[in-house]
Amino acid sequence: MYCVRKVTDDVTWVGGCDRRISIFEGVYRLSRGMAYNAYVITDEKTVLVDTVDHAVSEAFLENVEHVLGGRKLDYIIVQHMEPDHSSTLGEVMLRYPEARIVCSKKAAGMIGQFFGRDVTGTALLAEEGTVLDTGRHKLTFVMAPMVHWPEVMVTYDAAEKLLFSADAFGTFGAPDGALFADEVDFFRDYLDRARSYYCNIVGKYGPQVQTLLKKAAGLDIQTICPLHGFVWRKDLGAILEKYLKWSAYEPEDRGVVIAYASVYGGTKNACEVLACRLRELGVRVVMYDVSVTPEETVVAASFRWSHLVFAAPTYNGGVFIRMDETLRDIAAHGLRGRTVAFIENGSWAPTSAKQMREILAPCRDMTFLENTVTVRSRPAEAQREELYALADALKASLEA
Ligand code: FEO
Repeated sequence: MYCVRKVTDDVTWVGGCDRRISIFEGVYRLSRGMAYNAYVITDEKTVLVDTVDHAVSEAFLENVEHVLGGRKLDYIIVQHMEPDHSSTLGEVMLRYPEARIVCSKKAAGMIGQFFGRDVTGTALLAEEGTVLDTGRHKLTFVMAPMVHWPEVMVTYDAAEKLLFSADAFGTFGAPDGALFADEVDFFRDYLDRARSYYCNIVGKYGPQVQTLLKKAAGLDIQTICPLHGFVWRKDLGAILEKYLKWSAYEPEDRGVVIAYASVYGGTKNACEVLACRLRELGVRVVMYDVSVTPEETVVAASFRWSHLVFAAPTYNGGVFIRMDETLRDIAAHGLRGRTVAFIENGSWAPTSAKQMREILAPCRDMTFLENTVTVRSRPAEAQREELYALADALKASLEA
């Protein structure tokens, strides 16, 4: 049975939700599923805006067929070729062979790579500002390279003042029947998932996101239709404000993330003392044990908060593996501009602080506090003052 929702009279959501997925892109652990959005525009010409992941292909294909209502499909706009959106494109091309592909030149090349189909001679190869006139709708294509792949473009529908935004403004999670962000308490219930999605999927490409936001600022946008999560038709300023902060690597909140690895509890003990002292000083603290917390959670927290403390044992001469992975993930996502401190542990040759700092060295505009605390096996009572001094230094930095 079809399951569609109207965005406007002419624009219909035809996507689907996968609540069995536990790992997205083979990396990101999901607890509340994933939504894959696609849209059909019914005008003098009919247009499908993107396709979906194969996991929801059956619902999607039925939805498209229903919305077309027996009409032929004239155009398939391919904004992004990552297979969470394009894996059903091959099937759509088989079902609607007369539909003309509209995509960037790079996307056309990728269609060849993924599907073995050379569309370069038949597709409408969109460039910056190319307009597709479908009758009432004039669809203008805006190139958005590296948001999140190089072939990405977004599509502005002047008739509806609507932006099809590809991955931008997406969210992890499968909404519970809601299509519009204003149908839920987004900032209470979904902001964490939206932040995690942004930071982990496009966090590395902040400058490219800023470029797209500048282009979007020149358009009269009243509705945003992303390829994941919710459609925005109210309070666009609130989510735009988040995107401006995230893409500029500005922290949303001032406070301290303490992410620790602790094999036998000594490092954790030091972190607990530090956290309690920070609380006594009136500082907000969030703690994660990286042995059980997925990297993507710590990555998102590192984007959110202003100050970060990483604590880990020295292990096989390096940094304990789970912390090593977490820090490399943060560095790979290009975090910038945070204040960072370290606690290291080592029963005979502690070197993990130096190595943790080296992992984060490529991150730009970081401030490293010099109050590193070195634990040998377990914190000695005499080290309480060192931990308190670190707490004081963090507080001073927070108030600077
Ligand atoms: Fe949702 Fe970059 O794909």
